[in-house]
Order: sequence, then C-alpha cells, then structure tokens
Amino acid sequence: MILAIFCEAFKTKVSRNANMAKLQAGYLFPEIARRRATHLLKYPDAQVISLGIGDTTEPIPEVITSAMAKRSHALTTLEGYSGYGAEQGEKQLRAAIASTFYGDLGIEEGDIFVSDGAKCDISRLQVLFGSNVTMAVQDPSYPAYVDSSVIMGQTGLFQKDFEKYGNIEYMRCTPENGFFPDLSSVSRTDVIFFCSPNNPTGIAATREQLTRLVKFAKDNGSIIVYDSAYAMYMSDDSPRSIFEIPGAKEVAIETSSFSKYAGFTGVRLGWTVVPKELLFSDGFSVAKDFNRIVCTCFNGASNIAQAGGLACLSPEGLKGMRDVIGFYKENTEIIMDTFNSLGFNVYGGKNAPYVWVHFPGRSSWDVFAEILEKTHVVTTPGSGFGPGGEGFIRVSAFGHRGNVLEASKRIKQLYK
Ligand SMILES: Cc1ncc(COP(=O)(O)O)c(C=O)c1O
Repeated sequence: MILAIFCEAFKTKVSRNANMAKLQAGYLFPEIARRRATHLLKYPDAQVISLGIGDTTEPIPEVITSAMAKRSHALTTLEGYSGYGAEQGEKQLRAAIASTFYGDLGIEEGDIFVSDGAKCDISRLQVLFGSNVTMAVQDPSYPAYVDSSVIMGQTGLFQKDFEKYGNIEYMRCTPENGFFPDLSSVSRTDVIFFCSPNNPTGIAATREQLTRLVKFAKDNGSIIVYDSAYAMYMSDDSPRSIFEIPGAKEVAIETSSFSKYAGFTGVRLGWTVVPKELLFSDGFSVAKDFNRIVCTCFNGASNIAQAGGLACLSPEGLKGMRDVIGFYKENTEIIMDTFNSLGFNVYGGKNAPYVWVHFPGRSSWDVFAEILEKTHVVTTPGSGFGPGGEGFIRVSAFGHRGNVLEASKRIKQLYK
C-alpha cells in the first residue's frame, strides 16, 4: 500500500489535447527506429544498413559549407554580427529562390517565405487553415500531412476497419491508376495536399495530370498545398513546380526544401511560395495571413543556414547539388535493378530517390520484418504511408555506395 502511494506519478490537472489522443501509435519513423533498436539487441554484431527513413548521407559540397563557416565566423565580429532577421527570410535568398526555381513563372521575391524546412511549413500551413477546413491527401502519402491535420482537429477519430481517419478524403494512388487519383470520385475538400515527385511512391505527376488537378481545385474553390521537395531529382519533363500550370497561382501554395538537394536535413532550410493571387472566400490574401503566422510562430530561418542556401544557388553550389543528386540517382538505379532482376513490380525511382516495390497479398510490416530479420536491411513499410501503401515497401536511395551495393547483394540472396 505504502509502496503504491510512493510509485504513483504526480499528475497535473491539465487535460490532454483530445486531438493528440486520436493519433495512432508512433509516428512512422520513430516506430521504425524502435524496431531497428530491438533488432540490434537481438543481433548486436549485425551490420545493419538503413534504406529506411530517407535521410541524406553524403557530405555537403564545400562551396556551401565554406559560405556557412564564413557567415558563422562573421558573427564573432562587430561588423558581421546580426541577430533576428526578417521573419520571411533574407531578401537576397528569397530573390535567388524565385529566380532559380520559378524563373519565368511570375513568382516574385515577395511570394517566397524562407523557413527551417518543409515539414515545419506544413504544420504552419495547418495553423493558417485552422481546424474548420476539410482536407484531402494522396494515399499513400508523406505522413506529416495527415498527422498535422489530426493534431489541428480537422479530422474525426481513426477508424480501425479502414485504417483511415474520419473526415479526410484519401485519394487512392495505385499502379492501376498510374498513381494519379481518379478525381471524378474524389469529394470536394477545402485543402488538397499533393506531393510530386511523390514520397513514398517516387512517381511524378505529368503536366496533363496537374492541369486536371488545378482545374479540379478551381472548380471546387479548393487550395492545393503542393510539396515539391524532390523536384530536382526529376529526369523526365514533368513539371518541377505546380506554378508551371496556368492558373495555379489562384489555387496553390508550394512548399519545398534544401534538405534533399544539399544534404540540409540537419542544417534545416526550406521555403514556401504563397502567391499574392491566392485569396480566401472573403477575398482576403492568403499570403498576408501566412505572413502573420510566420511572424507569430517563427522568427526566421538561421542566418547561417540562409548563407548556405544562398551558396547552394550560386553556379558552383548548383553544380555541387546536382552532383550529389546524381550520386543518389545512381543508387536508385542499383536498387531498381536489384528488385527488377528478382521479378518484382517496381515503381518510382526515375524522378525521386525512392523505389516502391510491390509484394502483392502480403502485409508491408511482415515484408519489412522479413527483410530486416534475414538481411539486416531497414526499409519502410508502405502501409505506414496510408492504407493505399499496404503490400508495398519503400526503399530509399540515400546511403553510401558500399552500403547500397551490400544491401542489394543481401536482398538478391533472400529473394533469389
Ligand atoms: C515529401 C516531403 N516533404 C517534406 C519533407 C521534410 O522536409 P524538411 O527536411 O525540409 O522538413 C520530407 C522529408 O522527408 C518529404 O519527404
């Protein structure tokens, strides 16, 4: 009895946010990390190779790190010191992003909000929209869209039978529909999250498909949040930006990132484009409200990271980024060849550093567990990206070459 009193933890009188309680188990990637740690306890000597989480592995080009070092060092001098900067980002960087990525698309410096990454911007966009909007996502999709929507209170409870949250429109993307949703069967929502090239499927939408998406948004008066975090990985001539589609500025926001271009997953730098043409139903500017959110919830990206971003967009920086991306694209080919040679149906890869492998009729978590147990290679179970990912695994091309080759050898042995 006395022991029970001592062991009982003190509880505050603050009730838990009911929306947090709706979230399922762990966020996908921490759950994978947990399983990897358990695996290592079982096989302490195993050489585990991670092609799972999608974190970059190769060094940042020197021209970029030396610009950051210079800016960092300048902070120790009176002349070079700077404190808070503009919440929206430094003028020069905003202008460089506008000209590099949106050249003649009519996107201007003032439309760009520099940030500490696309994931953070996705959450800030949810704060912008509030809890009364409805949302649609590709199924499967990057988990941050759905989870941030749940946290904001836009959704109902998780329905175990369907593996879906109530009040979210899941737009199924399968090999049968070319990984582009059948818009004729999609209900109207206020916000449509759309990621292209897609994480996890690795598929990029074509110009014709995006034209249909923009028309769909316009017909329904919806706002598209377009995530182009992998645009620089594209090999074909599909659009790099939603703003390549005429009329998109009236219905779309675009978020993107230096994370996968320059190895900035740890440095943290991204941006969001909110065109001045985009208006709410009462005619108020979406950009003005987003500016208010950014000024309230964020105090601007790190000045050192922004110096790095500017260096990324210099001619040498662009070359450096393209070289690193080219390296990961070679990894992608090795992974695609591996699964193709084993007779699997393999998707993606061409326009993104992700390969989407089909294991028809099998549970994704079972395949994940089988590959981990028998080869010590960490992948990502497709069902972690939504019910449409069941039966698939995602294999990431981020990794040192030796590890990718070794993983390929082990997987070939397992499934030969
Ligand atoms: C589609 C997509 N969007 C956004 C992000 C997050 O990017 P950032 O590192 O800029 O927060 C990722 C990271 O994996 C991603 O895959």
